[in-house]
Amino acid sequence: MSFAIMCSGGDAPGMNPAIKKFVDYVYKQGEVPYLIYDGLEGLIDKKIKKAIHSDVAGILHNGGTKIRSSRSKRFFEYDYRAQAYNNLKEFGITKLVVLGGDGSFRAMEKFSSEFDLNFVGIPSTIDNDINGTDYCLGVDTALNVIRDALDKIRDTASSFNRAFLVEVMGRESGYLAIVSSIISGAEVCVIPEASFEPTLLTKRLKDEVANGRNYILAIVAEGTKKTTEVYNWLQDEIGLETRVSILGHIQRGGNPTVFDRLMAFDFVVLAVDHLMQHSNSNKVAVYKKGEFALIEIEDVVSTKYQLPKRYLDALNLLD
Ligand code: F6P
Repeated sequence: MSFAIMCSGGDAPGMNPAIKKFVDYVYKQGEVPYLIYDGLEGLIDKKIKKAIHSDVAGILHNGGTKIRSSRSKRFFEYDYRAQAYNNLKEFGITKLVVLGGDGSFRAMEKFSSEFDLNFVGIPSTIDNDINGTDYCLGVDTALNVIRDALDKIRDTASSFNRAFLVEVMGRESGYLAIVSSIISGAEVCVIPEASFEPTLLTKRLKDEVANGRNYILAIVAEGTKKTTEVYNWLQDEIGLETRVSILGHIQRGGNPTVFDRLMAFDFVVLAVDHLMQHSNSNKVAVYKKGEFALIEIEDVVSTKYQLPKRYLDALNLLD
Protein backbone atom coordinates (compact mmCIF):
# COMPACT_ATOMS: atom_id res chain seq x y z
CA MET A 1 0.00 0.00 0.00
CA SER A 2 1.27 3.47 -0.76
CA PHE A 3 0.32 6.38 1.45
CA ALA A 4 0.86 10.07 0.75
CA ILE A 5 0.56 13.26 2.76
CA MET A 6 0.09 16.81 1.54
CA CYS A 7 -0.72 20.27 2.90
CA SER A 8 -3.23 22.59 1.29
CA GLY A 9 -4.19 26.21 1.90
CA GLY A 10 -2.70 28.33 4.66
CA ASP A 11 0.05 26.63 6.62
CA ALA A 12 -0.53 26.01 10.31
CA PRO A 13 1.82 25.18 13.19
CA GLY A 14 1.36 21.46 13.81
CA MET A 15 1.71 20.49 10.16
CA ASN A 16 5.37 19.57 10.58
CA PRO A 17 4.86 17.27 13.58
CA ALA A 18 1.98 15.68 11.64
CA ILE A 19 4.18 15.08 8.58
CA LYS A 20 6.96 13.61 10.73
CA LYS A 21 4.57 11.30 12.58
CA PHE A 22 2.97 10.25 9.29
CA VAL A 23 6.26 9.12 7.76
CA ASP A 24 7.41 7.30 10.89
CA TYR A 25 4.03 5.66 11.50
CA VAL A 26 3.44 4.51 7.92
CA TYR A 27 6.89 2.89 7.86
CA LYS A 28 6.14 1.29 11.21
CA GLN A 29 3.06 -0.33 9.66
CA GLY A 30 5.32 -1.82 6.99
CA GLU A 31 3.93 0.48 4.27
CA VAL A 32 5.43 3.15 2.02
CA PRO A 33 4.91 6.91 2.68
CA TYR A 34 5.10 9.53 -0.04
CA LEU A 35 5.35 13.30 0.32
CA ILE A 36 3.43 15.61 -2.04
CA TYR A 37 5.18 18.97 -2.19
CA ASP A 38 3.51 22.37 -2.77
CA GLY A 39 -0.05 21.28 -2.01
CA LEU A 40 -2.61 20.84 -4.76
CA GLU A 41 -0.35 22.72 -7.17
CA GLY A 42 2.34 20.13 -6.56
CA LEU A 43 -0.15 17.30 -6.95
CA ILE A 44 -1.05 18.66 -10.40
CA ASP A 45 2.64 19.05 -11.28
CA LYS A 46 3.63 15.63 -9.93
CA LYS A 47 5.90 16.94 -7.17
CA ILE A 48 5.69 13.61 -5.40
CA LYS A 49 8.54 11.84 -3.67
CA LYS A 50 8.94 8.65 -1.66
CA ALA A 51 9.73 9.79 1.87
CA ILE A 52 12.91 8.86 3.64
CA HIS A 53 13.54 9.58 7.30
CA SER A 54 15.99 12.39 6.56
CA ASP A 55 13.20 14.29 4.71
CA VAL A 56 11.41 14.78 8.00
CA ALA A 57 14.29 14.75 10.48
CA GLY A 58 14.50 17.74 12.81
CA ILE A 59 11.20 19.34 11.74
CA LEU A 60 8.86 18.36 14.57
CA HIS A 61 9.40 21.56 16.54
CA ASN A 62 9.09 23.96 13.58
CA GLY A 63 6.10 26.01 12.45
CA GLY A 64 5.11 26.13 8.78
CA THR A 65 5.32 23.02 6.64
CA LYS A 66 8.48 21.35 5.34
CA ILE A 67 6.59 20.06 2.29
CA ARG A 68 5.09 23.51 1.66
CA SER A 69 1.54 24.36 0.66
CA SER A 70 -0.38 26.37 -1.93
CA ARG A 71 -3.75 27.85 -2.76
CA SER A 72 -4.45 26.32 -6.16
CA LYS A 73 -6.62 28.11 -8.70
CA ARG A 74 -5.92 25.43 -11.29
CA PHE A 75 -7.53 22.76 -9.10
CA PHE A 76 -10.91 24.44 -9.76
CA GLU A 77 -10.64 23.11 -13.33
CA TYR A 78 -11.64 19.52 -14.04
CA ASP A 79 -8.72 18.82 -16.38
CA TYR A 80 -6.18 19.67 -13.69
CA ARG A 81 -8.03 17.53 -11.17
CA ALA A 82 -7.88 14.64 -13.66
CA GLN A 83 -4.15 15.26 -14.06
CA ALA A 84 -3.74 15.23 -10.27
CA TYR A 85 -5.61 11.93 -10.03
CA ASN A 86 -3.48 10.36 -12.75
CA ASN A 87 -0.36 11.40 -10.85
CA LEU A 88 -1.60 9.61 -7.74
CA LYS A 89 -2.33 6.52 -9.84
CA GLU A 90 1.09 6.62 -11.48
CA PHE A 91 2.76 6.45 -8.05
CA GLY A 92 0.35 3.76 -6.89
CA ILE A 93 -0.88 6.04 -4.10
CA THR A 94 -4.17 4.73 -2.80
CA LYS A 95 -4.25 6.34 0.64
CA LEU A 96 -4.03 10.07 1.07
CA VAL A 97 -3.82 12.32 4.13
CA VAL A 98 -4.61 15.99 3.53
CA LEU A 99 -3.72 18.67 6.09
CA GLY A 100 -5.88 21.66 5.26
CA GLY A 101 -8.68 24.04 6.03
CA ASP A 102 -12.25 24.53 4.95
CA GLY A 103 -11.46 25.54 1.34
CA SER A 104 -9.15 22.56 0.90
CA PHE A 105 -11.78 20.17 2.17
CA ARG A 106 -14.28 21.61 -0.30
CA ALA A 107 -11.76 20.93 -3.05
CA MET A 108 -11.23 17.38 -1.75
CA GLU A 109 -14.97 16.77 -1.62
CA LYS A 110 -15.27 17.77 -5.27
CA PHE A 111 -12.22 15.66 -6.16
CA SER A 112 -13.61 12.61 -4.34
CA SER A 113 -16.99 12.95 -6.04
CA GLU A 114 -15.29 12.62 -9.44
CA PHE A 115 -12.51 10.10 -8.84
CA ASP A 116 -11.94 6.92 -6.93
CA LEU A 117 -10.21 8.35 -3.85
CA ASN A 118 -9.45 7.21 -0.35
CA PHE A 119 -8.39 9.99 1.93
CA VAL A 120 -8.59 11.40 5.44
CA GLY A 121 -8.50 15.16 5.98
CA ILE A 122 -6.88 16.54 9.12
CA PRO A 123 -8.29 19.97 10.09
CA SER A 124 -5.35 22.35 9.97
CA THR A 125 -5.98 26.07 10.08
CA ILE A 126 -5.39 28.77 12.65
CA ASP A 127 -8.92 30.05 11.91
CA ASN A 128 -10.61 27.10 13.71
CA ASP A 129 -13.53 27.43 11.33
CA ILE A 130 -14.17 23.85 10.19
CA ASN A 131 -17.60 22.45 10.85
CA GLY A 132 -17.69 19.17 12.82
CA THR A 133 -14.52 19.66 14.87
CA ASP A 134 -13.87 21.70 17.99
CA TYR A 135 -10.18 21.94 17.15
CA CYS A 136 -7.96 22.46 14.13
CA LEU A 137 -4.17 22.07 14.16
CA GLY A 138 -2.41 25.39 14.66
CA VAL A 139 -5.04 27.15 16.74
CA ASP A 140 -3.35 26.81 20.12
CA THR A 141 -0.04 28.07 18.74
CA ALA A 142 -1.70 31.02 16.99
CA LEU A 143 -3.61 31.93 20.15
CA ASN A 144 -0.38 31.88 22.12
CA VAL A 145 1.24 34.21 19.57
CA ILE A 146 -1.75 36.56 19.91
CA ARG A 147 -1.72 36.30 23.73
CA ASP A 148 1.96 37.20 23.79
CA ALA A 149 1.36 40.22 21.51
CA LEU A 150 -1.62 41.38 23.59
CA ASP A 151 0.28 41.06 26.86
CA LYS A 152 3.02 43.25 25.39
CA ILE A 153 0.59 45.78 23.96
CA ARG A 154 -1.04 46.04 27.38
CA ASP A 155 2.32 47.00 28.89
CA THR A 156 2.65 50.01 26.62
CA ALA A 157 -1.09 50.79 26.64
CA SER A 158 -1.12 50.97 30.44
CA SER A 159 1.80 53.40 30.38
CA PHE A 160 -0.17 55.98 28.37
CA ASN A 161 -3.73 57.29 28.17
CA ARG A 162 -4.51 55.44 24.97
CA ALA A 163 -6.73 52.91 23.30
CA PHE A 164 -5.15 50.05 21.38
CA LEU A 165 -6.95 48.31 18.59
CA VAL A 166 -5.53 44.93 17.61
CA GLU A 167 -6.72 43.29 14.40
CA VAL A 168 -6.43 39.50 14.37
CA MET A 169 -6.79 36.96 11.56
CA GLY A 170 -9.53 34.38 11.16
CA ARG A 171 -10.89 34.99 7.68
CA GLU A 172 -14.74 34.93 8.02
CA SER A 173 -14.58 33.57 11.57
CA GLY A 174 -14.38 35.48 14.85
CA TYR A 175 -12.93 32.51 16.76
CA LEU A 176 -9.41 33.90 17.22
CA ALA A 177 -10.78 37.32 18.14
CA ILE A 178 -13.30 36.16 20.71
CA VAL A 179 -10.99 33.66 22.40
CA SER A 180 -8.20 36.27 22.46
CA SER A 181 -10.50 38.79 24.06
CA ILE A 182 -11.62 36.29 26.70
CA ILE A 183 -8.06 35.33 27.62
CA SER A 184 -6.72 38.89 27.59
CA GLY A 185 -9.67 40.65 29.21
CA ALA A 186 -10.08 43.03 26.27
CA GLU A 187 -12.75 45.67 26.79
CA VAL A 188 -13.99 45.50 23.19
CA CYS A 189 -14.32 42.58 20.75
CA VAL A 190 -15.74 42.87 17.25
CA ILE A 191 -16.43 39.72 15.23
CA PRO A 192 -18.30 38.91 12.02
CA GLU A 193 -20.83 36.74 13.87
CA ALA A 194 -22.28 39.69 15.83
CA SER A 195 -23.26 43.22 14.87
CA PHE A 196 -21.27 46.12 16.29
CA GLU A 197 -23.84 48.41 17.89
CA PRO A 198 -21.97 49.78 20.88
CA THR A 199 -24.56 52.12 22.43
CA LEU A 200 -24.35 50.67 25.94
CA LEU A 201 -20.63 50.06 25.65
CA THR A 202 -20.01 53.65 24.51
CA LYS A 203 -21.76 55.03 27.57
CA ARG A 204 -20.04 52.66 29.98
CA LEU A 205 -16.54 53.21 28.56
CA LYS A 206 -17.00 57.00 28.39
CA ASP A 207 -18.05 57.02 32.05
CA GLU A 208 -15.10 54.83 32.97
CA VAL A 209 -12.66 57.05 31.07
CA ALA A 210 -14.15 60.11 32.79
CA ASN A 211 -13.63 58.31 36.10
CA GLY A 212 -9.98 57.50 35.50
CA ARG A 213 -9.75 54.50 33.16
CA ASN A 214 -6.61 55.25 31.21
CA TYR A 215 -6.53 52.65 28.48
CA ILE A 216 -8.73 50.33 26.44
CA LEU A 217 -7.85 47.19 24.54
CA ALA A 218 -10.05 46.42 21.52
CA ILE A 219 -9.76 43.26 19.41
CA VAL A 220 -11.24 43.27 15.93
CA ALA A 221 -11.52 40.19 13.68
CA GLU A 222 -10.20 40.83 10.16
CA GLY A 223 -13.41 39.33 8.72
CA THR A 224 -15.49 42.26 10.01
CA LYS A 225 -13.57 44.78 7.88
CA LYS A 226 -14.42 47.23 10.67
CA THR A 227 -10.94 48.19 11.81
CA THR A 228 -11.27 51.78 10.59
CA GLU A 229 -14.79 52.13 11.96
CA VAL A 230 -13.74 50.89 15.41
CA TYR A 231 -10.64 53.11 15.31
CA ASN A 232 -12.81 56.18 14.61
CA TRP A 233 -15.24 55.18 17.37
CA LEU A 234 -12.44 54.86 19.94
CA GLN A 235 -10.92 58.20 18.93
CA ASP A 236 -14.07 60.25 18.39
CA GLU A 237 -16.76 58.69 20.59
CA ILE A 238 -14.74 57.32 23.48
CA GLY A 239 -12.21 60.13 23.18
CA LEU A 240 -8.94 58.24 23.61
CA GLU A 241 -5.94 58.66 21.34
CA THR A 242 -5.83 55.32 19.53
CA ARG A 243 -3.11 53.14 18.02
CA VAL A 244 -3.69 50.20 15.67
CA SER A 245 -1.70 46.96 15.47
CA ILE A 246 -2.49 44.51 12.69
CA LEU A 247 -0.88 41.27 13.80
CA GLY A 248 -0.96 39.69 10.32
CA HIS A 249 1.05 36.63 9.39
CA ILE A 250 3.05 36.40 12.61
CA GLN A 251 -0.09 34.63 13.85
CA ARG A 252 0.64 31.75 11.45
CA GLY A 253 4.22 31.27 12.62
CA GLY A 254 6.00 29.98 15.68
CA ASN A 255 7.00 26.62 17.05
CA PRO A 256 3.93 24.41 17.57
CA THR A 257 2.85 24.27 21.21
CA VAL A 258 2.76 21.01 23.17
CA PHE A 259 -0.97 20.80 22.46
CA ASP A 260 -0.53 21.17 18.70
CA ARG A 261 2.22 18.54 18.65
CA LEU A 262 0.04 16.10 20.59
CA MET A 263 -3.01 16.79 18.43
CA ALA A 264 -0.88 16.20 15.32
CA PHE A 265 0.17 12.84 16.77
CA ASP A 266 -3.41 11.77 17.57
CA PHE A 267 -4.92 12.97 14.29
CA VAL A 268 -2.26 11.20 12.20
CA VAL A 269 -2.52 7.89 14.04
CA LEU A 270 -6.31 8.01 13.66
CA ALA A 271 -6.04 8.83 9.95
CA VAL A 272 -3.45 6.19 9.08
CA ASP A 273 -5.19 3.47 11.13
CA HIS A 274 -8.42 4.22 9.29
CA LEU A 275 -6.78 4.20 5.87
CA MET A 276 -5.03 0.90 6.65
CA GLN A 277 -8.40 -0.74 7.19
CA HIS A 278 -10.54 0.95 4.53
CA SER A 279 -10.59 1.74 0.86
CA ASN A 280 -12.95 4.14 -0.84
CA SER A 281 -13.69 6.14 2.29
CA ASN A 282 -13.37 9.92 2.33
CA LYS A 283 -13.41 11.24 5.86
CA VAL A 284 -12.22 14.04 8.08
CA ALA A 285 -10.60 13.37 11.44
CA VAL A 286 -12.27 15.50 14.08
CA TYR A 287 -11.99 16.27 17.78
CA LYS A 288 -15.42 16.86 19.25
CA LYS A 289 -16.38 17.16 22.93
CA GLY A 290 -13.05 15.67 23.96
CA GLU A 291 -13.24 12.64 21.64
CA PHE A 292 -11.55 11.83 18.34
CA ALA A 293 -13.73 10.59 15.50
CA LEU A 294 -13.96 10.37 11.71
CA ILE A 295 -16.85 11.96 9.86
CA GLU A 296 -17.88 12.10 6.21
CA ILE A 297 -16.34 14.92 4.19
CA GLU A 298 -19.84 15.90 2.94
CA ASP A 299 -20.98 16.48 6.51
CA VAL A 300 -18.01 18.74 7.14
CA VAL A 301 -18.34 20.96 4.08
CA SER A 302 -22.13 21.13 3.93
CA THR A 303 -22.49 23.33 7.01
CA LYS A 304 -20.76 26.51 8.15
CA TYR A 305 -18.83 26.41 11.41
CA GLN A 306 -20.66 28.05 14.34
CA LEU A 307 -18.90 29.67 17.27
CA PRO A 308 -19.67 27.99 20.62
CA LYS A 309 -22.63 29.74 22.23
CA ARG A 310 -20.76 30.24 25.51
CA TYR A 311 -18.16 32.33 23.66
CA LEU A 312 -20.82 34.37 21.90
CA ASP A 313 -22.47 34.93 25.27
CA ALA A 314 -19.18 36.36 26.56
CA LEU A 315 -19.60 39.19 24.04
CA ASN A 316 -22.68 40.35 25.95
CA LEU A 317 -20.63 40.62 29.09
CA LEU A 318 -18.49 43.18 27.28
CA ASP A 319 -21.58 45.25 26.48
O1 F6P B 1 -6.73 30.69 6.72
C1 F6P B 1 -5.59 31.11 7.40
C2 F6P B 1 -5.33 32.56 7.14
O2 F6P B 1 -4.15 32.93 7.84
C3 F6P B 1 -6.49 33.52 7.47
O3 F6P B 1 -6.58 33.79 8.84
C4 F6P B 1 -6.14 34.69 6.63
O4 F6P B 1 -7.28 35.46 6.32
C5 F6P B 1 -5.56 34.06 5.40
O5 F6P B 1 -5.10 32.77 5.77
C6 F6P B 1 -4.42 34.80 4.77
O6 F6P B 1 -4.09 34.14 3.60
P1 F6P B 1 -2.77 34.41 2.78
O7 F6P B 1 -1.62 33.83 3.58
O8 F6P B 1 -3.00 33.68 1.51
O9 F6P B 1 -2.64 35.89 2.65
